[in-house]
Amino acid sequence: MTALETAAKIITQGGVVAFPTETVYGLGANALDPMAVARIFELKERPSFDPLIVHIADLEQLQVLTTSEDPRIGKLAEAFWPGPLTLVLPKTAQVPDIVTSGLPTVGIRMPDHPMALGLIRTSGCPLAAPSANKFGRLSPTRAAHVTRHLPEADYILDGGTTRVGLESTIVRLESDGFLILRPGGITREDLAAVLPESAKTLKAGNPEAPGMLDSHYSPSKPFYLYQPEVLSRIEPSRAGFISFRGEIPATFLQTRTLSPKGDLREYATKIFSALHELQESDVEVILAEPLPETGIGIAIMDRLRKAAHPWH
Ligand code: TXA
Ligand code: MG
Repeated sequence: MTALETAAKIITQGGVVAFPTETVYGLGANALDPMAVARIFELKERPSFDPLIVHIADLEQLQVLTTSEDPRIGKLAEAFWPGPLTLVLPKTAQVPDIVTSGLPTVGIRMPDHPMALGLIRTSGCPLAAPSANKFGRLSPTRAAHVTRHLPEADYILDGGTTRVGLESTIVRLESDGFLILRPGGITREDLAAVLPESAKTLKAGNPEAPGMLDSHYSPSKPFYLYQPEVLSRIEPSRAGFISFRGEIPATFLQTRTLSPKGDLREYATKIFSALHELQESDVEVILAEPLPETGIGIAIMDRLRKAAHPWH
C-alpha cells in the first residue's frame, strides 16, 4: 500500500491523519463522522468553541456540506480553488455540530496540494482539518513540526515544506458584500477583483468567528514584535531576531533573515519555520521586526501580533 492509501484507510476507519496542504499541515478526519472529529479536538487540546475547516476535492462535495446556492461561490471557486481561500457558508444537516462548534455555518476550502486532494479522493470523505498543532501554538509547515509537536496523530503524510506557509484567508459572504474573518495570502484586493461588491472588515473577537482569539500561534518562548526600546529591556546576546531583509539592529545570539530581496510572500513561507527553529534553539526571547502591512503583509502581521506577548 502507498502512504496515501494507508492514510486514506485510517481516515475511513475513523482515524486522524496529518497531511500537507499548500498553506500549513492539517490534522484531518472524516468531516461527517462526529466521533472521528472529536479525536481532532482531543489531540489538539482544542476548545470545542473553535470550529474546523472542511476540505473538499471537487465542487460536487459542496452539496453535501452547504445549502447555499449563492452564485458568488462559483465565481470565487473558479478564481481561487484549489487554493488558500475558506468560505463560511450555511451548513447542511449532514455536517455534525462538533465540526462547526454548533454554528449554523461551515468553513469550506479546496486545498491546492496533490496529497491533500489525493487523500480526500481516496478516502471518499470531506476532511475536517485544523492546523496540525496543539491549540494556540505555532502552525506546522513541515512534517517534522507535526512529528515533534503532535506525535499522537495516527499517521503523518510527509509532503515536504508547505508552499504558502500561512493559513487560508477566511471569508463570509453577506447579502451586501463579504467579510474577511481571517486575512491570508488571498488579499482583499484579490477578492474585490472577483466580487465587485464592497469589502467589509470584521474585527477579531466577533462572536460569530469564535476561533478568532487575540492570542494564538504562540512560540513556547517569550516573543515580541521588535521596537528599538526593546533593546534596553532585553539582553540581545540571549535573544533571537527575525529580520525581513537583513537589517539587524544589535548583536543577537541567533538571527534569521527571511527575504533579502524584500519579498513578503517569501517571508510568509518561512516565518513559522523560523519561529519553530528559534523556540527550539538556545535563545531565551524571540524578536521579529514588524513588516509593511500591504498585500500578504497584512496576514503576516495578524499572525505576529497574535503570537506576540504585549510589551510593557
Ligand atoms: O489554511 C488553513 O486554513 C489551514 C489548513 C489546514 O487548511 N487550516 C486552519 O485551520 O488554519 P484552523 O483550525 O487553524 O483555523 C480554523 C479557523 C477557526 O479558528 C475559525 O476562526 C474559522 O476557521 N472558522 C471555521 N469555521 C468557521 C465558521 N463556521 N464561522 C466562522 N469562522 C470559522
Ligand atoms: Mg490553527
